[in-house]
Amino acid sequence: MEILSVPQGQFQLSRFPRRKQEKLRAWDAADEYLLQQVADEHLLNDDCRILVLNDQFGSLAVALNQYAPTVISDSWLAHAGIQANLNDNNIPTDQINLLDSLSAPEDQFDLVLIKVPKSLAMLEDQLHRLRPHLKDSTRVIAGGMVKGIHTSTLKFFEKLIGETHTSLARKKARLIFPQVNCTITPAASPYPSSYILENSAHRIYNHAGVFSRDSLDIGTRFFLSHLPTDDRYQQIVDLGCGNGVVGLIAAERNPEAELTFVDESFMAVASAKLNFETAFSDTRTAHFSTTDCLQGVPRNSADLVLNNPPFHQQTAVGTHIANQMFREARTVLRDGGELWVIGNRHLGYHITLKKLFGNCETVASNKKFVILRTRK
Ligand SMILES: C[S@@+](CC[C@H](N)C(=O)[O-])C[C@H]1O[C@@H](n2cnc3c(N)ncnc32)[C@H](O)[C@@H]1O
Repeated sequence: MEILSVPQGQFQLSRFPRRKQEKLRAWDAADEYLLQQVADEHLLNDDCRILVLNDQFGSLAVALNQYAPTVISDSWLAHAGIQANLNDNNIPTDQINLLDSLSAPEDQFDLVLIKVPKSLAMLEDQLHRLRPHLKDSTRVIAGGMVKGIHTSTLKFFEKLIGETHTSLARKKARLIFPQVNCTITPAASPYPSSYILENSAHRIYNHAGVFSRDSLDIGTRFFLSHLPTDDRYQQIVDLGCGNGVVGLIAAERNPEAELTFVDESFMAVASAKLNFETAFSDTRTAHFSTTDCLQGVPRNSADLVLNNPPFHQQTAVGTHIANQMFREARTVLRDGGELWVIGNRHLGYHITLKKLFGNCETVASNKKFVILRTRK
């Protein structure tokens, strides 16, 4: 746990999930720059209605808690991290209004702070959703690390909010100042966008923040072409479901199976639900859960877990989430149940799986990917 020192006070902050020997901080220089800027401009007062977008682990929500901000994030892990950090600072969690990225706040806001998201599509979607909550006097300030702010980023602010300029860089962070112009009438948001899934009649809808939003990922395509069929698979879990194509095709190949779709992104789970319901209307049963890995899925309940694991949590890269997914898959599988994993060959998932399950075989491989099967 480290201490964030900003004009609003000193706060204890940790990343989430909590890990022993965590080397990364729970905030970045853009968070500090944003908090310094609102202090320098004297923007905070008791009547100020504040909206915060994409707070990663709660540095903004915690520092501004006394103004009861509304905080929007697409990440379940961010929600859990913000709540844990509020607890650590003895701040009641209902002090802030925490919303997922598909929920609309009721207010119009005086101050909007945006951490620029990694995905430009996500930014575009968020600015579209933000517009009805702005008035000409709303102060909007966005912040990000210089390497994540491009001309295309600024163009979206210009197009959807108003004339935009930027600050000087400080500790490799930069602020963006769009001037709200309520007379702008942009075209409708292009999200959720959709494509037709190859070799099928399925139209696949994707909310803005979803993995491989524009077309089928090449790894997923390889996985789809090898998904198994067997009467033993009564309960199938699509773990890290994204838009849910893996579970959708598994459902088609296993007509008696009940499906569970899980992802930590609210937009992913909403897309998976939309796609499943579009494909099967109410003829099939499925459960949808936004959570960390398999938290909340009953132990010893699944016959088959399908997993195309992520290689990063926000900006931190690594196999730690994949490893957590494999461990939790072992817990939710019944004896004899199977975990199927697709990954880049070089990631060496077979070593971890063999250690955990005591067995691991290769179902298929090509130059880039390998599909592994392991049995509990
Ligand atoms: C490589 S994508 C695979 C998406 C989809 N299954 C496919 O093949 O197109 C990995 C997914 O894992 C999700 N994810 C990342 N961290 C997670 C976590 N801790 N718990 C659950 N899902 C997570 C991401 O949001 C993303 O949708």
